[in-house]
Amino acid sequence: MTTETESPIMDPISQVSSNPGSPVDAPVAEAIAHAAEAAVAAAPAAPKVERKFLAEVLVVTSGKGGVGKTTTSASIACGLARQGKKVCVIDFDVGLRNLDLIMGCERRVVYDFVNVIHGECTLRQALIKDKRFDNLYVLAASQTRDKDALTKDGVEKVLADLGDDGFQYIVCDSPAGIEKGAFLAMYFADRAIVVVNPEVSSVRDSDRILGLLASKTRRAEKGQKVKEHLLLTRYSPARVEKGDMLSIKDVQEILGLEVIGVIPEAPEVLQSSNSGEPVILAAESHAGQAYTDAVARLLGEKRELRFTTAEKKGFFAKLFGG
Ligand SMILES: Nc1ncnc2c1ncn2[C@@H]1O[C@H](COP(=O)(O)OP(=O)(O)OP(=O)(O)O)[C@@H](O)[C@H]1O
Ligand SMILES: [Mg+2]
Repeated sequence: MTTETESPIMDPISQVSSNPGSPVDAPVAEAIAHAAEAAVAAAPAAPKVERKFLAEVLVVTSGKGGVGKTTTSASIACGLARQGKKVCVIDFDVGLRNLDLIMGCERRVVYDFVNVIHGECTLRQALIKDKRFDNLYVLAASQTRDKDALTKDGVEKVLADLGDDGFQYIVCDSPAGIEKGAFLAMYFADRAIVVVNPEVSSVRDSDRILGLLASKTRRAEKGQKVKEHLLLTRYSPARVEKGDMLSIKDVQEILGLEVIGVIPEAPEVLQSSNSGEPVILAAESHAGQAYTDAVARLLGEKRELRFTTAEKKGFFAKLFGG
């Protein structure tokens, strides 16, 4: 015969409460259950120790897609590395890997950001060293379809580990929109580069991103501010003069941000991306030079804006419509 008291694996609480019919035991059971609950509530939860970030975390973000975030992340990361900084650029666009192509390292991707977070490889195994700069590394996005593959704790660990490893800047290339990937790309940021095209829809979506930067980031939760910079790209002075595009002043007034750079619309951007050579390295390109200026401003230098006025056409160009 088996009785409850003979059962070696029953704990006292379940023993008592498993006998609810007993008028004597019921209050005792309740008291024990309350005491147990109180003990659990009073026990200090394992405190989450916030890791100190030694690297400066920059997020390159926008509301609208396809405005030039990945182009900008690649150029800013290269520009900072060219200035001697140790830099890691991370692709947060789970499912749509792109940064490795623009950085020209797509054939060398073995492990990615999600593999690191899931413990399938070490951070060092996943970091791809740039061929041009010894102090520049790329962490590629995963091509998994699981949009929940990135976790906040996982991202925090990678960013903190990079800082402990001597990285000075971490550039986070955000996916478009305001979904989880975009949220995680901005959550730990110290600074944000908000990429905007001079058109109404891009500006309006960026305004929503500014709202998120002010409320849904670790800094915001601590009552601190993420330093925000405006980077206007695909800017065409001639079209602004014709009234087809918003001007720098218009965008600045709507968003209320300080301008870190204005990158002209330039065909060599696409050529550079296709050849895996970020446009900042194209010394002749106006877009490349404008990115170089933006990096200098990020590092605290004061530089005038360039390439923001339409070139005056010469007599022959006007005559022949060139
Ligand atoms: N200054 C520029 N002049 C001309 N084309 C540009 C410029 N900047 C970006 N582009 C082009 O715009 C397109 C989108 O750029 P990119 O992939 O960097 O945008 P994105 O914001 O990262 O897009 P997504 O939201 O899909 O991640 C590319 O074809 C790129 O070559
Ligand atoms: Mg992109």
